[in-house]
Amino acid sequence: METRKMTTPKMKNLKLRTDGNAVRTFKQLLLAISLAFISLPLFISFFGGKIFSPAIATLTANMFLTGASLLMAFGTAMALLSKYSPVRWLAVRKKLVLFTRLFINPKTDGALYQSVRWQYAANGKNTIIDLYPNGLVGDTAGMGMKLSQYFGENLLKYEETDSKARYILGNPPKRYDGIGLMEEGSPEPESGGSLSPDYEPIPIYGNVCWDIGSEALHILLTAPSGAGKTMFLHYLAGMVLKRMHKLYVIDAKNSDFGRMFRHSGVTVATGTEEIIRLLASLVQEMEERYAKYFATGKGSSIESLGLKMHFLFFDEILSVLSFASRKEREEIEKLLGQLALKGRAAGFSLVVSAQKLNATSLPKSITEQCQTRIILGGLVSEETFHQATGAYKKDIAAAYKGGVGEGYAVTPRTGGLAYIKTPRMPQTPRKSLNLLAQLKDREARCGEGR
Ligand SMILES: Nc1ncnc2c1ncn2[C@@H]1O[C@H](COP(=O)(O)OP(=O)(O)OP(=O)(O)O)[C@@H](O)[C@H]1O
Ligand SMILES: [Mg+2]
Repeated sequence: METRKMTTPKMKNLKLRTDGNAVRTFKQLLLAISLAFISLPLFISFFGGKIFSPAIATLTANMFLTGASLLMAFGTAMALLSKYSPVRWLAVRKKLVLFTRLFINPKTDGALYQSVRWQYAANGKNTIIDLYPNGLVGDTAGMGMKLSQYFGENLLKYEETDSKARYILGNPPKRYDGIGLMEEGSPEPESGGSLSPDYEPIPIYGNVCWDIGSEALHILLTAPSGAGKTMFLHYLAGMVLKRMHKLYVIDAKNSDFGRMFRHSGVTVATGTEEIIRLLASLVQEMEERYAKYFATGKGSSIESLGLKMHFLFFDEILSVLSFASRKEREEIEKLLGQLALKGRAAGFSLVVSAQKLNATSLPKSITEQCQTRIILGGLVSEETFHQATGAYKKDIAAAYKGGVGEGYAVTPRTGGLAYIKTPRMPQTPRKSLNLLAQLKDREARCGEGR
C-alpha cells in the first residue's frame, strides 16, 4: 500500500528587518536610472544627432543598451519576486512579506525593527507556514483564517506549540472510496502461501489514519444522529477484517449494521446481557493472552509475535448505558475500562461511538485511553466538541466545517485538529455484503496469526 505519511520539507526562513521603505526607494532609483539611460540617448539622437561626434554617438548607443538591459533585468527580477512568481517558494515568500505588512503591526525600538518570523515551504500541492509571533500576534488561530483568505487556499491544518503556530494551506484531498480501499490489493495468497495479520494504519482522509499498531488504537467517535457514525464504523470494521484481525460488534439498535456483520459471520451482540457476556469473554481472553505472552515483560509486541488483534466496535454506547440497570452499567463500564487500559499491550482495541458527550457521559478510564478522536456533524455543541476532541472550535483557526461524514480528527500523528471526510460508502448495505463475507472468510483462514 502506498504510504500516506507527510514529511516536512526543508523550511525557508523569512525575517523582516525593515518596513520595506528603503527597498522601495532603491527599486524606484534603479527604475529611474534605467529609464534615464534609455531616454537620454533617444533624446540626444532625436534633437542633435547630426551635431555630435561619432564617439558620442557610440557612447549614447551603449548607454541605451545598458539602460534597456537594466530595465529587462529589473522587470524579470520584479516578476520573479512578485506574488505571481512562477517559482512557487518565491511567490509564497512575497505573499508573506505583503501579508506581514498588511496585518501585523511591527514594533520599533530605536533603530531596531521587530517583526514576526516566518518559515515556509512548498510541499507538493500544499504550503506549510510556521509563524513565530515574537509576542506580536495574540490570536494565532485568527491569523490562520486571514492567511487562508489572503492566499486563497483552504487551511487544511493548524497546530500550535509553545513558540510557533503551523498552518498548512492547500486544496483539500479527495474523499476516499471506502469499498475501493477494502478491495484494494487484497490478493489471495499463492497456493501454499500463508495469510498473516497486517498492522498497517487504516487510511481515513488525506494523511489522517487510524494507526492500529500504535498507542492510538482505541477510537472515540462522536456524532449527532444521522451524521455518519454507522457508515464510518462500517468502513473501519471492513478494514479490520481486511487486515485479518478479529472483529466483534455491539449494535444495541439491532440495525442493518449489526445484521450485516452477523450475516458475514462476525460475532454481534445486541441485548444488554449478551453485551456483558461478550465483554467479559473478551476481557478474559485479553488477560490470558497477557499472561501467556507479555507478563514476563520481555518487550515482545503483538506485531513481533504476529498475533491477531481483537477489535470491539461498540455503536451507540450511551444508549446501551442509559437503558441498562445501575449494576449492569457499572459492569459494562468496568469491563470496558479494563479493555481500554490493558488493550494496547495485548492487542485489544476499542472503537466506541456516541451521539454527544458531556463530562460525565463516559468514565474517564475509557475516554482518556482513546487517542484517536473523531467528531462528525454540523450541529455539535461546544461542550460535546470539547469533550470529544480536547480542543475548542476556535482552535480550528477556520470556520467550523462539520457535516454528514465530515468533521475533525485528533490523533497523536495529526498533533492538533485535522479536517476529515469519512470514506464514501454505498447507500445500500447490500452492495458491501459479499465483500464483507469474503474478507471475513479470509480472516477466518488466517488462524490465530502465528
Ligand atoms: N461515509 C458515507 N458515505 C456515504 N454516505 C454517508 C456516509 N456517511 C453518512 N452518509 C449518509 O448519511 C446517512 C446517515 O449516516 P449514518 O446512518 O451512518 O449516521 P449515524 O450517525 O449512524 O446516525 P444514527 O444516529 O441515526 O444511527 C446515511 O444513510 C448516508 O446516506
Ligand atoms: Mg447509526
